[in-house]
Amino acid sequence: MRPIELNNVTKVFNHPMKVWQKIESVKNLSFSMEQGEIIGFVGHNGAGKTTTIKMIMGFISQTSGTISVFGQNPGDRIIKHKIGFLPERPYFYSQLTSMELLKYFGALSGMKSSLIRSRAESVLKKVGLFDAKDRRLSSYSKGMLQRIGLAQALIHDPELVIMDEPMSGLDPLGRHEVMEIIRSLKHEGKSVLFSSHILNDIENLSDRVLIIDHGHLKYFGKIADFVRPSHVKYTIEFATPEPMTETIFSLFAGVRIVSDRYLLECSDINDFNDKITDIVKRGFKIYSAKADYPSLEEIVFNTSGE
Ligand SMILES: Nc1ncnc2c1ncn2[C@@H]1O[C@H](COP(=O)(O)OP(=O)(O)OP(=O)(O)O)[C@@H](O)[C@H]1O
Ligand SMILES: [Mg+2]
Repeated sequence: MRPIELNNVTKVFNHPMKVWQKIESVKNLSFSMEQGEIIGFVGHNGAGKTTTIKMIMGFISQTSGTISVFGQNPGDRIIKHKIGFLPERPYFYSQLTSMELLKYFGALSGMKSSLIRSRAESVLKKVGLFDAKDRRLSSYSKGMLQRIGLAQALIHDPELVIMDEPMSGLDPLGRHEVMEIIRSLKHEGKSVLFSSHILNDIENLSDRVLIIDHGHLKYFGKIADFVRPSHVKYTIEFATPEPMTETIFSLFAGVRIVSDRYLLECSDINDFNDKITDIVKRGFKIYSAKADYPSLEEIVFNTSGE
């Protein structure tokens, strides 16, 4: 049974002010998740990530299309214990300590009290809050609050973990820690869907990426498959034994001078190889010849036209 499956899902909201106006937040979105995979969910502000996640969680219903979570309707009681959720803007009772909070959430998930304490301790260790377990949340930093949010999502040992912007507002170290937690979930065989603006985080972590733009699916698949040959930039850096700038400019269109060397961009892998052969034959010295693969960020922004 797949953890998540969406078929042609559309969500239309009424405009909060102008009743005659509709907001199409998600349009004909289809994708499915396999057990044990990490899916990174990318999109600009307002792209429809949170709306999609809320529909998967069963907090709001879709306008059309079908959603199945472990083969059931979203929000169905019988699948709730299989899902851990970190909302975009979690709110917790600040007067509770993290241990008290986890006991509370454990009880809400129907866990036996004998199990809750040991599970809470292991989850607190996992998110690096064990030493702070008896401090009230009001004394926690933003990063610590984000981590307790993760801990509450994991307390009942769910099979599927859904996180809406788990790295938001965290510094690089905090982001790294959250990434490590996500990685460890994968090792435990869990399925993880998480959204982020920071494409690098998604790039490093996800088995597949789901990219949406204004509610439309732009891409769903492996990052490696998204990188087309045309995205790769080939450059050769070379120098001549004696000054011969005019000859070089007439031989190689588009060549640039960078300090005391020439920098030549090639159109594709064949052009790259031909030019390397030519440069070597002419007795020039090659300092570097490299193929640069763009980051996911560059590809997404280029294909969005932004
Ligand atoms: N309850 C609602 N009523 C009306 N419009 C809504 C509602 N919820 C979301 N929207 C609209 O749907 C669109 C998608 O919003 P959503 O919150 O899903 O985006 P997002 O990708 O999560 O953005 P962000 O990165 O800023 O969190 C936006 O245009 C938003 O204004
Ligand atoms: Mg959002």
